[in-house]
Amino acid sequence: MHDILSHYRNDGYAIIEDFFSASEVEELRHAGEEFTKNLPDESERTIFSTTKSEQASKNYFLESADKVRIFFEADALDENGKLKCDSSLALNKVGHALHYLHPVFRKYSFDERIKEICFQLGYQDPVIPQSMYIYKNPGVGSEVKSHQDASYLYTEPLALTGFWFALDDATLENGCLWMIPGSHNGGVHRRFIRNPDKESKELLVYDRSEPIYQKSAFVPVPVKKGSCVLIDGLVVHRSENNKSNLPRHAYTLHVIEQQNTVYSPDNWLQPTNDYSFPSLYRNN
Ligand code: FE2
Repeated sequence: MHDILSHYRNDGYAIIEDFFSASEVEELRHAGEEFTKNLPDESERTIFSTTKSEQASKNYFLESADKVRIFFEADALDENGKLKCDSSLALNKVGHALHYLHPVFRKYSFDERIKEICFQLGYQDPVIPQSMYIYKNPGVGSEVKSHQDASYLYTEPLALTGFWFALDDATLENGCLWMIPGSHNGGVHRRFIRNPDKESKELLVYDRSEPIYQKSAFVPVPVKKGSCVLIDGLVVHRSENNKSNLPRHAYTLHVIEQQNTVYSPDNWLQPTNDYSFPSLYRNN
């Protein structure tokens, strides 16, 4: 554990191999595949893309904090919402309250092993604001552009950690994570916020232009299935599209510190009158 924590502190990320057993991975993966068997009607299908701005204008995305909502790959749908590929390959992700609403994801999100890591990282009263099942399927699985998670889940002061669980081997070919080691030391580069211009049809905007990161600064982080990648909220990371014929499913959740921090009211994802972000230590 000491090596993992020092890697996390020095580089902004760390790999924990064999975090989940083969049977645990299978249970999570099976739950993820179930969503592909019960898709929304064609007229209600929404894509998720980090290269197209579609989600910024959609309430479907904005109101997903306390729901389990399905997002398609841009290349999986035609303009009428008809599938261009098999339904088992069509999804980009499901989010953002799996950890709260879905029994399987809830069980693993509040697992003692996650609590222990947060304890070791010094979290006093962590909460889980979001979770996602990410598909990145062969053929359609799209790239995720360079970003810091803190752009989306900003707290003052900042205390944010991502847990990224590989449910398949993540390789150079199928779109493993890439990181800039040490990039967590330079603060947040831009934020994704609720548009202060209420007249605009864009509900969400970036407050600054896209930073330019040197491609050569990124290192690949291929991992075996069952691995957990700890991601500092400030480390710059990305993933490429899936160029292989193998899937690259992952489950991911984020924790933020609740004690003596302020969760930004400008963040896209907000608790509601009926839903507070669940406490990690006080749920099981
Ligand atoms: Fe991320």
